[in-house]
Amino acid sequence: MRELLITIDGPAGAGKSTISRMLADRLDYRYIDTGALYRAVALAADRIKLSGDEEDAVFEDLCRGLRIEFVREDQPAEKQTRLMLDREDITDQIRTPELTMLASKVSAKGPVRKFLLEVQRALGREKAAVFEGRDMGTVVFPEADLKFFLDASPEARARRRYEELKPFRSDLTCDMVLEEINRRDQNDSSRALSPLKPAVDAILIDSTALSPAGVVEKMLSFF
Ligand code: DC
Repeated sequence: MRELLITIDGPAGAGKSTISRMLADRLDYRYIDTGALYRAVALAADRIKLSGDEEDAVFEDLCRGLRIEFVREDQPAEKQTRLMLDREDITDQIRTPELTMLASKVSAKGPVRKFLLEVQRALGREKAAVFEGRDMGTVVFPEADLKFFLDASPEARARRRYEELKPFRSDLTCDMVLEEINRRDQNDSSRALSPLKPAVDAILIDSTALSPAGVVEKMLSFF
C-alpha cells in the first residue's frame, strides 16, 4: 500500500497520544508527538528563566541556537523514541505541570512556531508517519493524506487526565484538572497564530463514549 502522512489534531486530553501511538503501531508507521517539540522549547526557555511573556525577539534568539531531535532507541521491543535537546535526553523532563503551561505560552510566539514548522516539515519528508498536534492538518501539512480531528467533552478529557495524574499528585481533584484544561483550551484556540481548529477536510471523531481501540477502528475504516 502507498505510504501515507496522517495527522491527528485536537485539544488536550482528547486521547491523541494514545490513539496516535496505537494507530502508528497498527500501520507500522512512525509516531511523531509535536507537542513534545513545544515542550522542548519551553524547557530551553525555562533554563534561561524566561516566563513566556517576553518579546518575540527573545524567542527568535532562543530558537536560533536550538537543536531538537527525536532519536529512536535500538530496543525494538519497546519502540522507545527519545527527545533530544542539544544532544541531551530530555524525554523525562518535559511533562511537569509548569512546563505544560509554559509550552502553551511559548507556542503562541511567532518565532517558535516558525522554527518548529521547519523542524516538523523536515520530519514529514519521509511519509509513513502519524503526526499528532494542534495545527498538523491546518498549517504544517495541509497536503496530508488523511486528517483526523479528535475531540471529547471537557469533562471526559478532565477525567482521563485526572486518572493519569492521580497516582503522582495526591492533592489533585478532577475539578482542578478541568479548570486547567479549560484554561489551556482557551489559550490554544484563541491565539492569533495557528489556533486549534479542525482543517476543513478533517474527519471529526468524538472519543467521549469510545474506547481507544474503538477510535482506532473507526479511523481505520476511513483508509
Ligand atoms: O500536546 P501537548 O500537551 O504536549 O502540547 C503542549 C503545548 O504545545 C500545548 O499547549 C499546545 C502546543 N502545541 C501547539 O501549539 N501545536 C502543536 N502542533 C502541538 C502542541
